[in-house]
Amino acid sequence: MPAPHPPEPARRRIRLLAVAGARPNFMKIAPLRTELARRRDRFEAILVHTGQHYDQAMSESFFRDLGIPEPDVNLGVGSGSHGEQTAQVLMAIEKILLERRPDAVLVVGDVNSTLAATLAAVKLHIPVAHVEAGLRSFDRAMPEEINRILTDAVSGWLFTTEPSAETHLLREGVARERIHFVGNVMIDTLLAHRERARALDTLERLGLEAGRYAVLTLHRPSNVDSPDQLRRLFGVLSRLGDRMPVVFPVHPRTANAIRNNLQGERLNLRMTEPLGYLEFLRLLMDARMVLTDSGGIQEETTALGVPCLTLRESTERPVTVTEGTNTIVGTDPTAIEAAIEKQLASPPPTGRRPALWDGRAAARIVDVLERDLGQESSR
Ligand code: UD1
Repeated sequence: MPAPHPPEPARRRIRLLAVAGARPNFMKIAPLRTELARRRDRFEAILVHTGQHYDQAMSESFFRDLGIPEPDVNLGVGSGSHGEQTAQVLMAIEKILLERRPDAVLVVGDVNSTLAATLAAVKLHIPVAHVEAGLRSFDRAMPEEINRILTDAVSGWLFTTEPSAETHLLREGVARERIHFVGNVMIDTLLAHRERARALDTLERLGLEAGRYAVLTLHRPSNVDSPDQLRRLFGVLSRLGDRMPVVFPVHPRTANAIRNNLQGERLNLRMTEPLGYLEFLRLLMDARMVLTDSGGIQEETTALGVPCLTLRESTERPVTVTEGTNTIVGTDPTAIEAAIEKQLASPPPTGRRPALWDGRAAARIVDVLERDLGQESSR
């Protein structure tokens, strides 16, 4: 009879602290949180919400819509200048890291919370995994570009969504073995929730017909902080509003700018409060076109095959242009008007979904972390 195997020594679970701060983080954290919960025999996940975005519309509704459990810790940092916001998260999260002693910290995206959590962790010698690494707009006037470059420079694992990211990281001197092309966690979330969104009555409620309305979002400082630029943009966008309803869920930064600078001007746009994830997805799905300066929406429209006009001079997500439905239009009203005309004149191209945007990105990420951290924690 073969000798019985000695019992396996009990393996310590890998303690992973995941950080979310602002609206575009929540849909990226959701599938990672689900995957970690599925492997709870191997992982102990701690979720920290920095509180960078804090109100019901910008934060709470996403936790509810996406089924993300209550954060274990809420740092409650709120708004402030870039320096204040980054410093507040840095100071508050350092305490949590010292208390909880995670084996690694998981950060997503490019917001101030991403950079602050990364800095706090690496200085305590806690390795960082950055999800959505390597994207570059090459526009250093964007705060997100600075956050991306600095976060990538000190992260131990760089999880990428598209091939351009690896090229940038290699050029910046990152070792190839730290880079993992895994796909797009935001698209994991989109695919997981698409059918629930489709069942909503959002179009009926807003009196919209599928394929006969546009969706607009604007929040980048470069577009909304200058009254002149905002006025020029709204001029051309209101003219589109004369031809079809333009639904415009207004980000708090933009609402402030409109209140302060454009009192009483005619805006032929259907302005709403910021929408929840599912309602917004429902609107994106059947839009004739989407106009935006957001990063994430460029990717979501590509995954859905809906035309997107990006009202910026550059994109850090070129795969949405080369393979998807995105056009970089810039912010000049004449160019925007021409791009709108072109969209309306020709049947929209549906593009194709980029490689690995297949709903499995979070599983690939957790596989890598389990492999690398599992070895360490069983030593
Ligand atoms: C942040 C991110 C940006 C992301 C965007 C999406 C950085 C540098 N920028 O920009 O990458 O695309 O979020 O939303 O991290 N506010 C509220 N309620 C909230 C949150 C914010 O009223 O829940 C107000 C703030 O008080 C502030 C303004 O909105 O006046 C801007 O918020 P802030 O966190 O500074 O940056 P965003 O412009 O949202």
